[in-house]
Amino acid sequence: MAFPPGFIDELTARNPIEDVVGEYVRLKRSGSNLFGLCPFHGEKTASFSVSPEKGIYYCFGCHKGGSVINFQMEIEGMSYPDAVRALAKRAGMKVPEDEQYQSRYRQQERLWALHKEAARFFYDQLYAPAGKDALNYALGRGMTKGTLIRFGIGYAPDSWSDLTDTLRRKGYSDQELRDSGLVTVSRKNGNLLDRFRDRLMFPIIDVRGNVIGFGGRIMRDGDKSGAKYLNSPETLIFNKRKNLFALNLAKKSKLGYLILVEGYMDAIALHQYGFDCAVASLGTALTEDGAALLAKYTDQVVLIYDGDTAGQNATQRAIPILERAGLQVKVLQMRDAKDPDEFLKKFGADRFKLLLEESSNRVEYQLNAIARKYSLKDDDQKVKFLQESAELVSTLSSAVQREVYSGRVAEAAGISGEAMRMEVDRARKRRLAREKKQQEKIDLAPARALQPKSRSIRYDNLKSAMAEEQVLGQVLKEPALLDQIPQLQPEMFSSELLGKVFRQLSQRHRQGFEVSLGGLEDLTPEEMSHIAGIAQRQTGPVNENALRDCAETICQEHISAVAKSEDDLMAVRESLQKRKGYRQ
Ligand code: CTP
Ligand code: MN
Repeated sequence: MAFPPGFIDELTARNPIEDVVGEYVRLKRSGSNLFGLCPFHGEKTASFSVSPEKGIYYCFGCHKGGSVINFQMEIEGMSYPDAVRALAKRAGMKVPEDEQYQSRYRQQERLWALHKEAARFFYDQLYAPAGKDALNYALGRGMTKGTLIRFGIGYAPDSWSDLTDTLRRKGYSDQELRDSGLVTVSRKNGNLLDRFRDRLMFPIIDVRGNVIGFGGRIMRDGDKSGAKYLNSPETLIFNKRKNLFALNLAKKSKLGYLILVEGYMDAIALHQYGFDCAVASLGTALTEDGAALLAKYTDQVVLIYDGDTAGQNATQRAIPILERAGLQVKVLQMRDAKDPDEFLKKFGADRFKLLLEESSNRVEYQLNAIARKYSLKDDDQKVKFLQESAELVSTLSSAVQREVYSGRVAEAAGISGEAMRMEVDRARKRRLAREKKQQEKIDLAPARALQPKSRSIRYDNLKSAMAEEQVLGQVLKEPALLDQIPQLQPEMFSSELLGKVFRQLSQRHRQGFEVSLGGLEDLTPEEMSHIAGIAQRQTGPVNENALRDCAETICQEHISAVAKSEDDLMAVRESLQKRKGYRQ
C-alpha cells in the first residue's frame, strides 16, 4: 500500500497529531508532551501521551502508539489507506491514485453496492406473492411493519438462482458474486447458486451504514432445510468478530448505555419495545474487537444473554473481555422466559424495564452465580460458598465495595460480618503476596523485563537490541544524527524489526523526506506501537558519543554473530564430510 513518501509527509504536516487526537481526547500539556486519558483502554490516570514534536502518540499503560495515521486507524477501526483518505479529506488534500489501493477500495465499493442491491431484492420479495409465508411468519412473531422496514428485513425466495440472475442483470461479474459470499459454487457443474433460499433475511449493516452481510432464518423450526440461522461467510467487507448487529441504529440511542444480546431476534424485539440501544453479536462469542467497538460508543454495557447454561457461561466469559475494554458491566439475569424476545412478548416493556433496573453489576451477578452452585443447608458446601465468595470479593480494589459485599455474603450464609471480613482479608493478602512474588520474579529477571511488551516481538540478542533501540530513539528525535554513523547498516541489526525500521528511516533521510513514524510502511499495529514506545521513552537530549557507542556495539555483536554462524557452518560441514566418509 504505497503512497508517495512526499504525500505522507505533507499529510502528517497538515494533520498535527495534537489536533487530530484532540478531537477524541482531552489533552493537557506537561513539558513537551500532552497527556490525557487513553481512548484505547479504561483508565483513571492519564498515561496516554502525545508528542507534537515527534508526531507520535503512545500510551504508557496499554503500550499502544504510532503516528497520526495509526491513531486514525485505531480509533476509527480503519485500514491504512482508509485512514490516509480520511486525514487527506480532513486537511482538504487530494489523494494520489495508488493502483493497488484503488483496486482494493473499488472492490469493496462494488461489494457494498452489490449487497445493497441484494438487500433491496430480498426486501421486495417479502412483499411479493412468493414472500407471503415469510411475511406472515415475521408478523406472527410479533414484528410490526415499522420494525420490518427499520431493519430492512426481507425474504430469500425458494429458488436456486433468483438472486444470482438479478445481480448478473445489474452488471455484477461472476467473480464479484463469488466474492460476495451470497452465492455458492455447485460442486457438480461449477454453476453459481444462491446461498440463501427460503429464509427470512436480516441485513447486517456496519456503523457507516453499509450492508456487509446477511443472516437468514428458516421459518419452520425443526425443518430439514439446514441450520436455524445461516450467516454470510467472511468476505472482504464482512468480519464477524469486528461488527455487531444493529449497532448502526443503537449508536444513535439516547439511553446512554448499550445492551448486548445473543440473537438477532432479541435485538430487534428490544428496539421495537423502545430499548433502541440493543445490539447482538454475529453468531459468535463476544470478541476483544467487539468489546473495543462497543467502547467507542458507550462506557456502560448491560449483558442480557439467554437464561440457559450456555448463556450463563457466555456471560462469565464476556465480563472480563468487556472490563478489559474499559466498560462498566451490568448483567441482567433472564428469568421467566428464555430470552429477551420471549420475555417482551410475554410480559411487555414495563416489566422488562423493572428487570433492567434491578440488573446487577457484575460482582452481584458473579456472587449469585457462586450461590447457585452450593446448597447453604449443607455445612461443607456453605464453607465452600464462603471461600469462593471471599476470593471474588477480595479482587475488588475499593475497600468500601469489599465491605458492602462481605456484609451481603455473610448475611446470605448466616455468619457474622466480622468472620467474612477476616476471610476476605486473608484471601486478599494471599492474592497480594502472590502478585508481589510474580512482580519480583519479573524484576529479578531483567532480561525478561527488557523484552518487548508485545508477545509477537522477541529480541534474540538483548545487548545489541538495547543499542538498536537507542539508535532508533535518537535518530527519530534528531534525524541529522544519521550522518554520524555511516558505518551502521540495517543488516547488522540483530532484531529484524528494528533493522527494517532503520532501513526505512535511513532511506527516507537520504532521499530528503521526513524521518518520522508517519513514513514507516509495512508494520503491524503491535510493531508500530513498539517503535512509538521507543521514540517516546527517548526523553533526555541526544548524545552523539552515546550514539556512536551504540553503533559500535551493534557492529561488534554482528561480527561475532557472523563469526559464530560461520563456525557453526564449518562444524556442520565437517560432520557431514565425516559421515560420508570423505577424507580431506
Ligand atoms: N446462530 C447462528 N446459527 C445457528 C443458531 C444461532 O448463527 N444455527 C446465532 C444467530 O446470530 C442467533 C444467535 O446465534 O441470532 C442466537 O441463537 P438463538 O438463541 O437460537 O436464536 P434467537 O435469536 O433466539 O432466534 P429465534 O428466537 O428466532 O429462535
Ligand atoms: Mn429467541
